[in-house]
Amino acid sequence: MPEPAETVSRHPRDDVAGLFDLTGRVAVVTGATRGLGLAIATGFAHSGAELVVVSRKAEACEEVVASLRSEGANAIACACHVGNWESIDGLVDRVYREFGRVDVLVNNAGISPIYDKPSDVSEALFDKVIAVNLKGPFRLAALVGERMLAGRGGSIVNVSSIGAVRPTRDIIPYAAAKAGMNAMTVALADALGPRVRVNALMPGPFLTSIARQWDMNRFAERARTFPLRRAGLAEEIVGAAIYLASDASSYTTGTVLTVDGGAQWSMPGAGDAKPDL
Ligand SMILES: NC(=O)c1ccc[n+]([C@@H]2O[C@H](COP(=O)([O-])OP(=O)(O)OC[C@H]3O[C@@H](n4cnc5c(N)ncnc54)[C@H](OP(=O)(O)O)[C@@H]3O)[C@@H](O)[C@H]2O)c1
Repeated sequence: MPEPAETVSRHPRDDVAGLFDLTGRVAVVTGATRGLGLAIATGFAHSGAELVVVSRKAEACEEVVASLRSEGANAIACACHVGNWESIDGLVDRVYREFGRVDVLVNNAGISPIYDKPSDVSEALFDKVIAVNLKGPFRLAALVGERMLAGRGGSIVNVSSIGAVRPTRDIIPYAAAKAGMNAMTVALADALGPRVRVNALMPGPFLTSIARQWDMNRFAERARTFPLRRAGLAEEIVGAAIYLASDASSYTTGTVLTVDGGAQWSMPGAGDAKPDL
């Protein structure tokens, strides 16, 4: 007979802040030199984590590491192209040599190249978008997740996009890759449970370097229809990332958490939009 459900909170009131504490956890964050990844890595460091800062450019990683160390955090830089499996194998070997374990993996690095019409997308571009946004995150989660499972468990956070569920003509390969990432998140949660949790963050529009490609006048018109009427700032992803990385989400796995100011529910005429939009 199963034990009756526990009705008393496992966490006394005093420990609530501790649920979000990452002290001593080793966190690998890909794409941690700019935008959402930099905000997440910095937020994790401020919560006590030790950081592995990953991007393609060693110099950019070193700059972030220097800044984190100046604030008292332990951090190392690892240059790695996450679209390349050999490079990922090298990253994993290095991290386990240096730290002996990974407690949190954030698959954040991603690219969303622009094109005019679908037939302009070359096979090479399509393959690159899939490699960086889907294949690489799969390989990294597989290698790290299995080691987490054999060790003391852990949390994997995949950074998806609302493009996965609201795909548009300008992001077809990217939307397909992120939809694949959402599916992969659920399947990896099954493969790596119960000791490894796997979840996704699904951001809407954030003002990072990706936003340089946007027509800001058109975006401002669209944003008027969002429930929160604006784009997000990189630091506004941090709370959700710490939630999924930490013990605060101990009974959450295989979920896709949207952080989009309500943008996925945007409709013509909603919010502050003019009725004729
Ligand atoms: N900003 C948005 O509106 C938005 C919306 C939905 C989802 N997202 C997702 O959120 C994630 C972060 O986006 P962001 O806006 O913060 O992007 P960003 O500002 O362009 O930063 C991308 C980061 O990824 C790294 N990177 C790019 N390609 C890489 C590769 N092949 N290997 C390793 N690192 C690589 C970049 O560093 P290097 O150039 O040095 O490699 C950089 O650190 C992405 O997965 C993106 O799809 C963003």
